[in-house]
Amino acid sequence: MENNFVLIAGGSGLIGKRLVEHLYKKGFDVAILSRNKVDKDAIYWNPSKGEIDTSMLHKVTHLINLSGVSIAGGRWTEVRKKEIIDSRVASTEFLFKNKSYFHNLKHYISASGVSCYGIDDLNKVYTEADAFGNDFLSEVVSKWELAADLFSTICTVSKVRISPVLDSKGGFISEMKKPIQFGAGAVLGSGNQWMPWIHQRDLVSIFEFIINHQLEGPFNAVSGNVTNRTLTQMLARKLHRPLVLPALPAWSAKLIFGEMATLFLDGVQVSNQKLIDKGFSFQYTDLDKALDQIL
Ligand SMILES: NC(=O)c1ccc[n+]([C@@H]2O[C@H](COP(=O)([O-])OP(=O)(O)OC[C@H]3O[C@@H](n4cnc5c(N)ncnc54)[C@H](OP(=O)(O)O)[C@@H]3O)[C@@H](O)[C@H]2O)c1
Repeated sequence: MENNFVLIAGGSGLIGKRLVEHLYKKGFDVAILSRNKVDKDAIYWNPSKGEIDTSMLHKVTHLINLSGVSIAGGRWTEVRKKEIIDSRVASTEFLFKNKSYFHNLKHYISASGVSCYGIDDLNKVYTEADAFGNDFLSEVVSKWELAADLFSTICTVSKVRISPVLDSKGGFISEMKKPIQFGAGAVLGSGNQWMPWIHQRDLVSIFEFIINHQLEGPFNAVSGNVTNRTLTQMLARKLHRPLVLPALPAWSAKLIFGEMATLFLDGVQVSNQKLIDKGFSFQYTDLDKALDQIL
């Protein structure tokens, strides 16, 4: 792994911490870019202020960008929507603007999302060859990936379309667990909406696989697809809590969460065949066992 230096923008977050640990164990030199000036182990940047410490950038062979404000972190006001887009698109454009410092860059890998395929067809299984949808999350991803493609003029570019991540240290399962543990768990909306998912260990292995095989283009990082009803019932069973409440109607979720309710009321099935065809093997394909590992 000599000479491979991986720099991870947004590497201080849930996925980034796991990825740093994984790549480090696999023998890569790894560093993160963070807006946190106090973190002495991080290289400082602040894309919204146009600031970046360029002193180490010449060493970087692989640049991974995970940066972005949380999509589930608050109601999608117009201001919040702009933050969601800018923290991904403008941060990517800012990195590209500094391309002259990345003398040794071989590969740019952007985080992306399986929420790019829209919310319309529950029966279809979407592949990387399908078009983007027309909702807000599809717009976010399409702009994010377009910005990542700027790097294709100087190096290989890949986009990891990440599914909601199963992780014992946070993420959507922690949020789903809370109402169930308090006896207030319920299926959301029709319960038939799909939720693609991936275990964090498979996700970090996918990043490593993409680096090692110099894969180019978009890849769905998804282990499986489950409906909201099945997942809610599985969690309740594992947490030994009954689901006594009726399903939360979609209209009331929309009243509480506004447009953001689409995160848990809508969802489509997504295929992982492209990664499998490239030779990647998923370790966690059984949701039951994957949940046991993180709960
Ligand atoms: N977790 C999931 O289930 C999931 C699913 C699909 C896609 N994704 C995508 O994968 C990426 C990483 O996810 P994650 O769960 O690790 O997210 P996270 O825990 O929220 O971490 C994201 C990191 O982005 C940086 N950041 C936040 N706001 C920023 C801004 N305005 N400008 C620049 N950097 C900013 C932060 O680093 P500093 O504060 O150190 O700068 C933060 O640690 C995100 O883009 C997310 O949308 C995640």
